[in-house]
Amino acid sequence: MGEDVNAAAGLLVTGAHGQLGRALTRLAPNARGLARTDLDITDANAVRAVVRPGDVLVNCAAYTAVDRAEADRDAAFAVNAAGPRVLAQVCAERDARLIHVSTDYVFPGTGSRPYEPDDPTGPATVYGRSKLAGEQAVLECSPTATIVRTAWVYTGRGGDFVATMRRLERERDTVSVVNDQFGSPTYAVDLAAALLELAAKPTGARILHATNAGAASWFDLAQAVFSGLGADPARVRPCGTEDFPRSAPRPAYSVLSGNSWAAAGLSPLRHWKPALNDALAAISDYPGPP
Ligand SMILES: NC(=O)c1ccc[n+]([C@@H]2O[C@H](COP(=O)([O-])OP(=O)(O)OC[C@H]3O[C@@H](n4cnc5c(N)ncnc54)[C@H](OP(=O)(O)O)[C@@H]3O)[C@@H](O)[C@H]2O)c1
Repeated sequence: MGEDVNAAAGLLVTGAHGQLGRALTRLAPNARGLARTDLDITDANAVRAVVRPGDVLVNCAAYTAVDRAEADRDAAFAVNAAGPRVLAQVCAERDARLIHVSTDYVFPGTGSRPYEPDDPTGPATVYGRSKLAGEQAVLECSPTATIVRTAWVYTGRGGDFVATMRRLERERDTVSVVNDQFGSPTYAVDLAAALLELAAKPTGARILHATNAGAASWFDLAQAVFSGLGADPARVRPCGTEDFPRSAPRPAYSVLSGNSWAAAGLSPLRHWKPALNDALAAISDYPGPP
């Protein structure tokens, strides 16, 4: 899958030190992984210096601090909108193919059935608006680019939700978690494998959705983490969004449909529960600190 791309054309990963970028470069060790210190995606000359004809560039670079973005609009738009425009323009110039990662936050988050790629967008946050502007720039500037929207990505290490639940399981008797926001928890390693499959397979699709299958609330996910760690899931207590006020509103419903992915002839991603169990098992094998 990924090996073909590595050998044939050159796989380039931007934002390579982020959560998804690391998962991708681990699965595709021959890829050229460029962290922010190697390549600032907003710097057109620097991007021109690294993109070669025939490359497949997977853009994992983003401004992802959803709450901070509310007061830091310019920085969010620079990385999430101007940066992808530069990447798309250079990929078009160089005859390279761009796969650009985007988010469920482009939708209003008020739906009641899984979102399809052509459902109306309507972001409720600065982060979501900046990512939507990035999508529009990519579509405008590169006729061969594909946008892949994903959601609720975790590795279980660092500061993501699963990692936080692992920590709270050790530190607290009980933990309250919101039970009125629904999405599709997505293991970064599964998403990385899916992106490598897409990288090896040209598609005419402009926008695809890729998450692990199924839906859960954050409460469901937290309970599954506790169960997976051998802890009592009853120690996780349900609460409501109003109990956790945030600068940026969170979507009540942002499940993404897997139909577009399957229709593009790509392998459906598995259900989020076995993916979570694999993530937890991979961490328990991990000898170092999270
Ligand atoms: N995590 C989620 O739950 C989630 C959900 C839906 C969609 N997504 C999307 O998935 C993609 C990957 O997200 P992630 O979770 O891997 O995010 P992440 O861990 O925050 O990684 C993003 C990386 O981009 C880098 N970066 C920021 N500005 C840059 C610039 N100007 N040039 C080059 N690199 C830059 C960051 O470097 P610094 O750390 O040094 O700033 C960071 O290493 C993003 O497009 C995100 O919008 C994520």
